[in-house]
Amino acid sequence: MFLVSASIFTLLSFTLPRLATSSVAYCNNQDYESGALGLSPYQTYDAAPYNPVQINYALPPRDCPANSQVSGYFFFSPLGLGTSLEMSGGLIMNPDGTLVYSTADLALVGAVMRGPMRYRGKDYLTLWVSNGAILSPSGSPLIGNGYNVLLNSSYDVVANITTSGLSVGADLHEFLITSDNTALMTAYPTTAYDLQSFNGSQDGYVLNCVVQEVDIATGKPLFTWQALDHVHPSECSTPLGTPFTGDGTADSPWDYFHTNSIQKNDDGTYLISSKHCSTLYLVDASGEIIWRMGGEKSDFTMKNGTNFTFQHHARSHGPKVISVFDDGAAGWEVDIPYPRGLLLDYDDSAMTVSLLSERLPFNRSSPSTSEGSVQMLSNGNSVVGWGSMPSYSEHDRRGDIMWSAQFAASNEVSAYRLFLQPWVGRPRTPPLMSIANSSSTENVTVYTWWNGATEVTSWQLRGSSLESPLKTITLTAVNKTDFETTLTYTGSGYAYYQVVAMNGHGQTLGFSNFTGLDGTTFGKGENQTVTAHPL
Ligand SMILES: *[C@@H]1O[C@H](CO)[C@@H](O)[C@H](O)[C@H]1NC(C)=O
Ligand SMILES: *[C@@H]1O[C@H](CO)[C@@H](O)[C@H](O)[C@H]1NC(C)=O
Ligand SMILES: *[C@@H]1O[C@H](CO)[C@@H](O)[C@H](O)[C@H]1NC(C)=O
Ligand SMILES: *[C@@H]1O[C@H](CO)[C@@H](O)[C@H](O)[C@H]1NC(C)=O
Ligand SMILES: *[C@@H]1O[C@H](CO)[C@@H](O)[C@H](O)[C@H]1NC(C)=O
Ligand SMILES: *[C@@H]1O[C@H](CO)[C@@H](O)[C@H](O)[C@H]1NC(C)=O
Ligand SMILES: *[C@@H]1O[C@H](CO)[C@@H](O)[C@H](O)[C@H]1NC(C)=O
Ligand SMILES: *[C@@H]1O[C@H](CO)[C@@H](O)[C@H](O)[C@H]1NC(C)=O
Ligand SMILES: *[C@@H]1O[C@H](CO)[C@@H](O)[C@H](O)[C@H]1NC(C)=O
Ligand SMILES: *[C@@H]1O[C@H](CO)[C@@H](O)[C@H](O)[C@H]1NC(C)=O
Ligand SMILES: *[C@@H]1O[C@H](CO)[C@@H](O)[C@H](O)[C@H]1NC(C)=O
Repeated sequence: MFLVSASIFTLLSFTLPRLATSSVAYCNNQDYESGALGLSPYQTYDAAPYNPVQINYALPPRDCPANSQVSGYFFFSPLGLGTSLEMSGGLIMNPDGTLVYSTADLALVGAVMRGPMRYRGKDYLTLWVSNGAILSPSGSPLIGNGYNVLLNSSYDVVANITTSGLSVGADLHEFLITSDNTALMTAYPTTAYDLQSFNGSQDGYVLNCVVQEVDIATGKPLFTWQALDHVHPSECSTPLGTPFTGDGTADSPWDYFHTNSIQKNDDGTYLISSKHCSTLYLVDASGEIIWRMGGEKSDFTMKNGTNFTFQHHARSHGPKVISVFDDGAAGWEVDIPYPRGLLLDYDDSAMTVSLLSERLPFNRSSPSTSEGSVQMLSNGNSVVGWGSMPSYSEHDRRGDIMWSAQFAASNEVSAYRLFLQPWVGRPRTPPLMSIANSSSTENVTVYTWWNGATEVTSWQLRGSSLESPLKTITLTAVNKTDFETTLTYTGSGYAYYQVVAMNGHGQTLGFSNFTGLDGTTFGKGENQTVTAHPL
């Protein structure tokens, strides 16, 4: 192996201007925080056609930017509302802020990355995809009509699931695979409704939030719960006529309920979060409401510090503990100056809720009026996605903040939810390469990348001659440190070049097609088989 050229490249990379080619996360970069680098700084590569958001650790981890205490990847979809993003869609990012995977290759509209979920013993990436524009006609609230796909570890779509028997398909707010191999989804069909008692029209319209459980293999609905059958709009005091709630017309139906999370508990009950009613509902298999937590008709006494409003991402952890993101604000109302991630303990005989721990954002300068997630990790730590603020952070068991990262300098960029999870990806499509333009055939520079590959630790550059284009010799090898890797061969004599992705055991993971200095391309060489174990 020609490791000498790898270290030459490492030295060179330090002399490149950071701003233009930044990729690993910044550490407490004041220019990023102030907006001097733009409202939505993004990464660029020499050849790879991706421009993911640039990360800045506003509160740096112990070893910034590596953040090597974190194991796994971050899954999220930056959403630009007002501030536009250079690249849209779902992302998988390394803890050091470099890109692992972008959904930009998939010809899918508005992909919302949810992170891997287990289905029949295997992990799948799950994405919500829109059938059309992601925004409702009025621009807000964010409501979707689409479907959810499962991608396997080679990034092939293996399932495509939506709601059934409704006037619209699955909405973006929830998709969760249960241990019964079913999927939980939200849907927002429009329903005619007499709104006279709410100062609206007799011929008014509401969004009748639907919770549906569907069998993934057959697509058959197994459980359908419609908010209007169980929760009267008077329960929620959702204002009619704001841009965030709709004015009750067919084009802008009243979003009185706004479901944003669903979970099925082991006992067959469902935990349903209604943002606009500021309530968590526990519902039995017949659809009857067992209890309400929070809101104006709470069955629980909310002890100090446990009251939440306009909450997101409620998850039960065993029978008595719930995590929830307390936005405490919506487009038309601000109850608390900045959001909180809560872990709550409830007693369903005394009917009380007490606070186990609270997570606060590093940047407390603004409320979160939408979105947000709290993910409890197996070691008791947690990862919070801060809703309408473009940041995420890790918290220890007590809720104290350990580090905080931002992915934009504008509160017009956000992420619906954000997860830290393990994942192994080995794309079915081969690695890609591009030869740098040069006037000389001496000293060839090659850029390579493989969108979604998680196992690559180094890259080999191979060359072949005009006479035997399929017989390669290894010219150099470089450790992978970023999404795109540069390989340089100082010499000449080869007409065609190819890159080979290697894992940490020296096994081959994938072979690119060949590219000639004259621009010709052709498929992989003789006897080139992947030696790494199949996934
Ligand atoms: C906190 O957020 C505000 C509003 O987005 C921004 O102006 C400020 O620079 C941020 N502060 C830090 C330390 O990032
Ligand atoms: C992923 O799904 C595709 C299409 O069904 C299949 O060909 C491929 O083998 C699967 N990959 C893995 C790793 O199972
Ligand atoms: C998924 O199914 C929908 C119909 O519900 C269809 O419009 C869409 O093209 C499918 N998408 C993929 C990626 O298979
Ligand atoms: C309807 O309008 C009247 C008069 O403005 C007001 O007093 C009342 O509170 C409104 N009711 C609702 C449900 O908004
Ligand atoms: C209520 O909880 C807050 C934290 O949310 C704490 O600061 C305050 O001291 C508590 N008050 C009482 C009376 O326990
Ligand atoms: C919770 O209650 C406290 C004290 O009554 C109040 O200051 C705070 O605004 C409430 N929080 C929310 C989210 O309503
Ligand atoms: C080489 O030049 C061509 C034509 O100007 C351009 O399309 C291509 O992107 C360049 N390749 C690289 C790696 O810069
Ligand atoms: C190729 O690289 C070698 C070693 O760095 C250098 O001496 C030589 O001038 C380079 N040739 C060209 C054409 O850049
Ligand atoms: C490929 O394998 C065949 C049969 O083992 C062998 O004759 C040939 O030389 C190999 N080619 C290369 C490029 O190694
Ligand atoms: C490449 O990675 C290996 C394994 O981590 C390490 O031993 C080696 O020093 C690295 N080489 C360079 C040039 O960084
Ligand atoms: C690689 O080569 C094969 C065989 O010529 C071709 O089918 C395929 O499209 C090529 N892939 C890329 C990414 O160029």
